[in-house]
Amino acid sequence: MSVGTPTTFAQLDVAKEVKIDHDNVRDLLERYQTASNLEEKKPIASTLVREMAIHSDAEEVSVYNLFLTKNMVTEAEKDKEEHAQVKKMVYRADTTSMESADYDQVLFNAVQAFLVHAKEEEDVQLPKLVSMLTQEENTKAAQDFLKTRTMVPSRPHPWAPQTGGVAQKLAGAQGKLHDKVVETVTGREFVGLKLEHGNVEA
Ligand SMILES: [Fe+2]
Ligand SMILES: [Fe+2]
Repeated sequence: MSVGTPTTFAQLDVAKEVKIDHDNVRDLLERYQTASNLEEKKPIASTLVREMAIHSDAEEVSVYNLFLTKNMVTEAEKDKEEHAQVKKMVYRADTTSMESADYDQVLFNAVQAFLVHAKEEEDVQLPKLVSMLTQEENTKAAQDFLKTRTMVPSRPHPWAPQTGGVAQKLAGAQGKLHDKVVETVTGREFVGLKLEHGNVEA
């Protein structure tokens, strides 16, 4: 289902919505690797950084908190730790000049770490979570994830609170404001995404 499809009783799948983000990152990496010049690469790199930052924070605040209520404490802790590592790498990419000789490698390392983590979520953790959810709970989890995506910062803040609780939500709200300013001032450009999410109002 594409964004904007009017439907009252649509069911959503949190695993599918999470995978859409992962697949968009996979697609962006492919586009980055086949881009022929810096001008073409720049907005793709900015979009990669934005998508990885938004996805990671949104998961922590919504999906990983749901893990905790379903006796998946070990998974939640492992994933948050992996996110902390990924965010530092994404932050490094975000603060490295694209003109520098090692930029491609810095960005690639961040995306690789993100994708290794994402694959385990897809293969192991999300199927386990979904198997414990009713269809109604699954739809609600997907809605929570999608709504949270719209509230979190669009640039990595690796030293912000990682608890997934109120502190992270507040830091996120402030960070988002800051990021909007930075994006406006620096005139960052982004590319479109291949895949769209389900309808959050379902
Ligand atoms: Fe994750
Ligand atoms: Fe993920």
